[in-house]
Amino acid sequence: MTEKERAPILIIGAGAMGRLWAGLLSPRVSVRLATRSTTSATLQYTLVHLEGHSERIEIGPSSNAPPGSVLVMTKAPDAESALTAVSSHIPPDVPIILFQNGMGSQQDIAKRFSQRPVFAASTTEGAYIDDGGRVIHAGRGTTWLGPLTTTAHTRLDQTMITLRLSELDIQSDPDIEGRLWQKLAINAGINPFTALIDCPNGEILGHPYFEERIADVCREVAALMQASGRPVEAQSLEAHVRDVARRTAANSSSMRQDVRAGRTTEIDMMNGFVVQASVIHGLDAPVNCELTDAVTHLKQD
Ligand code: PAF
Repeated sequence: MTEKERAPILIIGAGAMGRLWAGLLSPRVSVRLATRSTTSATLQYTLVHLEGHSERIEIGPSSNAPPGSVLVMTKAPDAESALTAVSSHIPPDVPIILFQNGMGSQQDIAKRFSQRPVFAASTTEGAYIDDGGRVIHAGRGTTWLGPLTTTAHTRLDQTMITLRLSELDIQSDPDIEGRLWQKLAINAGINPFTALIDCPNGEILGHPYFEERIADVCREVAALMQASGRPVEAQSLEAHVRDVARRTAANSSSMRQDVRAGRTTEIDMMNGFVVQASVIHGLDAPVNCELTDAVTHLKQD
């Protein structure tokens, strides 16, 4: 069987990440892209590779063939409904890989589709869509993959092979939830500040609004992680937040981009998740609550 004869990969979500993966996979395997409006649209766009060269990508209309894997690349608030909308066409043994930021949406989906092989992926790959609609592969990273359901364990090797058709760096992590917690702490400590101050990641450092709150944000996240069986020092979370903000100084965070584009943000799966999960553990998270309210209000302005 040639790679092109494999069952197609269904990518749900046509944002920057969905288009990046579709463009990188499509030379080697047939790809279908399910967008918000239809599952059978032909999509054409330019992908600018890391090395700087441009490639015209055309993802053809979907066939009726059942997919061999499903990559869910919508924003976190849309993931469960988008997957549910197509789930009756997905055979029960087909791996489903969730790429959402934050926490909560992946666990809800894994619970709902608990008999299926469901994975979470956490990626540091950088991509955005520029003003001209081109997809820019902006930074090389690593994509970590780990099982969320019991049946996913038996499909891990096959799913790694599938994702590696993208020629990106794919690694497995048996404790993917630990990685999601770390990413949650980074997002909770960077994203709302960049959205509220309206600045690139690096400019939150030293800004009074950030400096007055970041220690408390990290203390609240650390208390929740401790209560969830993932002990961590608040100071080390804060050091990590500052380090990532420094290393991604020129980036416009996903939340700032969402606010600027008038899209729903992922605040409920980031600081909002910290607030909700803290309540369940009898903890208080007032600063994460303040940030959640402020960003929620911002997107309604
Ligand atoms: O959401 C984002 O934008 C990214 O996860 C991060 C790490 C904050 C960098 O911009």
